[in-house]
Amino acid sequence: MIAPAEFARRRGELMQMAGVDAALVVAAAPRRMRNADAAWPYRQDSDFHYLTGFPEPDAVLALLPGRASGQAVLFCRERDPARERIEGARIGPEDAVARFGMDDAFPIEDIDDILPGMLEGRTRLYCHFGRENEFDAQLLRWMRRLRAARGGGVVPREFVALGHLLHELRLYKSPAELALMKRAARIAAEAQRAALRAARPGAAEYEVEAALLHAMRAHGAVPSYPPIVAAGVNTCVMHYTASRGKLARGDLLLIDAGAEVECYASDITRTWPVGGRFTREQRALYGIVEDAQRAAIGEVRAGCPFTAAHDAATRVIVRGLCALGLLDGSPRAAIRSGEYKRFFPHKTGHWIGLDVHDVGDYRVDDQPRVLEPGMVVTVEPGIYIAPDDTTVPAKWRGVGIRIEDDVAVGARGPELLTAALPRRLDEVEALCAA
Ligand code: GLY
Ligand code: MN
Ligand code: MN
Repeated sequence: MIAPAEFARRRGELMQMAGVDAALVVAAAPRRMRNADAAWPYRQDSDFHYLTGFPEPDAVLALLPGRASGQAVLFCRERDPARERIEGARIGPEDAVARFGMDDAFPIEDIDDILPGMLEGRTRLYCHFGRENEFDAQLLRWMRRLRAARGGGVVPREFVALGHLLHELRLYKSPAELALMKRAARIAAEAQRAALRAARPGAAEYEVEAALLHAMRAHGAVPSYPPIVAAGVNTCVMHYTASRGKLARGDLLLIDAGAEVECYASDITRTWPVGGRFTREQRALYGIVEDAQRAAIGEVRAGCPFTAAHDAATRVIVRGLCALGLLDGSPRAAIRSGEYKRFFPHKTGHWIGLDVHDVGDYRVDDQPRVLEPGMVVTVEPGIYIAPDDTTVPAKWRGVGIRIEDDVAVGARGPELLTAALPRRLDEVEALCAA
């Protein structure tokens, strides 16, 4: 759990970065409709959650550095017993102050009357724009209200993209955040094990997916993205989510699934042999991906550039594919020409945190970002040989293998958050066979 004091610390750091003449405004995620009156499951906006921990829609946070009567102001839904009987409990402005550490809180209905005056005289306004039409329109409305104020209100001279400050903070995970990410990782590992128990030859991919989702929900987590449960040739489709295929003995089963706990994500991929034994070709390719991942994880250290893991994985994969005759010529030439991208078309990882593909710049001053303690990345090399790739002998085709783990940059080297799930070839076979 993230304590109210940590949310307050984040708000304080952000205000310090923005300066005393600035204001910051962040909106909660809107409810999104699936169709007619049915909404998608609600997920709070990650930035809004990071600064408030407040779980409801129809809320706006205003940070007003130096404001004597309170710097952190929340606008939110009022209590409404009749509506609450239908939609469930609301927190309300009083508890926003009492339980969520806000300095001040007002009904969201009053925001157009109250907020413009609070922004009056501030030089810079930090917010997101061009994301949500409704928020963009609201923002311009507040500026019009401010300009139209008696005597002519002073509108901020600059609008600044909030992400540059806020996402820099989100990139460094605190001990409490790492604890939640470890819990999300443990649940995702447990879900993979549950999925494996459902992965008998003849089963449908959706049955495996059901076991995965059951395990996550049974622990109170939700999926951090739509899971990928791909058998046979479907393993070669990077974002396969149809889950309609069948598992056949001797095929591979690729499961890429993460759990989300208190808005923090995990992201694990394992590639399992259906029936418990890799074929000779699968074994050769799995071994390369396993070696590539080990080499890449070794580069997740403070002081290493973000790109070092991908470079290390690429070297191992290309060397392996050349040795198997799947790539012509020398490894050096295959890397230079980019020919290997036919089989390894994606990067080796991404930041992970509140978002599964988390925020934070990958380059700083036009150089790859240097890793620092508290950053968390995924390490996910893969090899995919398309079923219709006639440039390779038929025995290699239709095989997709990815191994993905979540790794924190620790003070003493890489810290595997997803260590609870085996990745070594022999352990993977043993687990499948069991
Ligand atoms: N599951 C999304 C990814 O691996 O990046
Ligand atoms: Mn990933
Ligand atoms: Mn993944």
